[in-house]
Amino acid sequence: MIYLKTDEEIELMRESNLLVGMTLGEMAKWIAPGITTLKLDKIAEEFIRDNGAVPGFLGYAGYPNTLCISVNEVIVHGIPNSYALREGDVVSIDCGVVKNGFNGDSAYTFCVGEVAPEVKQLLKTTKESLYLGIEHAVEGKRIGDIGHAVQTYCEARGYSVVRELCGHGVGKKLHEEPNVPNYGRPGTGPLLKNGMCIAIEPMINLGSRNIVIERDGWTTRTRDRKPSAHFEHTVAIKGGKADILSSFEYIEQVLGEKSI
Ligand code: MF3
Ligand code: CO
Repeated sequence: MIYLKTDEEIELMRESNLLVGMTLGEMAKWIAPGITTLKLDKIAEEFIRDNGAVPGFLGYAGYPNTLCISVNEVIVHGIPNSYALREGDVVSIDCGVVKNGFNGDSAYTFCVGEVAPEVKQLLKTTKESLYLGIEHAVEGKRIGDIGHAVQTYCEARGYSVVRELCGHGVGKKLHEEPNVPNYGRPGTGPLLKNGMCIAIEPMINLGSRNIVIERDGWTTRTRDRKPSAHFEHTVAIKGGKADILSSFEYIEQVLGEKSI
């Protein structure tokens, strides 16, 4: 069952997603060699609560923290811990909040200091593929159109698309129908309608697409241990068009020239 949101509900979703964007902007201020991923998690949790919301991932299916922090070969669902970031790392920070009963969900992959050019290019391509996917999130198209756009763009550049994890519908629940794969055939899958809210989140690998889930049941990494990138926006289909509810503007304001 796909829940269609009213315009009023979409505005509440926008509020939640704006706070996610602001939280990621706070993270951009702190990311530097030496900071532990657990410290980033604590800063984010405090920021979210100070803004009248609660972390959306904490306790979800037993997840233990506010953020998913995924470094280098970790694709997604990295659990914050005592690891201190190092120059040259790339780090995906995935953040969710619940405010007024609605979820916000967005992720960005950051560079720690100077990063190898081929890895920077992976990040850039992954982010571009997210926006290409979003161009297809319009009334009358289908879910497969989004995935096809992401897949063809990334594979044409020699990268691989993770298959086991997908984007998703989002609303009162973090994960709602439909599933939003980052691969697919045009004109296939559920029809996109006004009122749908979906999280589009390409997970793109430098090497092969194969994954391993670590023994903690969450940490998902590349099998070949080559780096992976992850960018996510929550998008509403409104007035026939894609309306991006989350925001990278706070991040990019902090990063300035260093923004990829
Ligand atoms: N953005 C991720 C997702 O949509 C994060 C979920 S982590 C979980 O799947 F712990 F909340 F499951
Ligand atoms: Co998500």
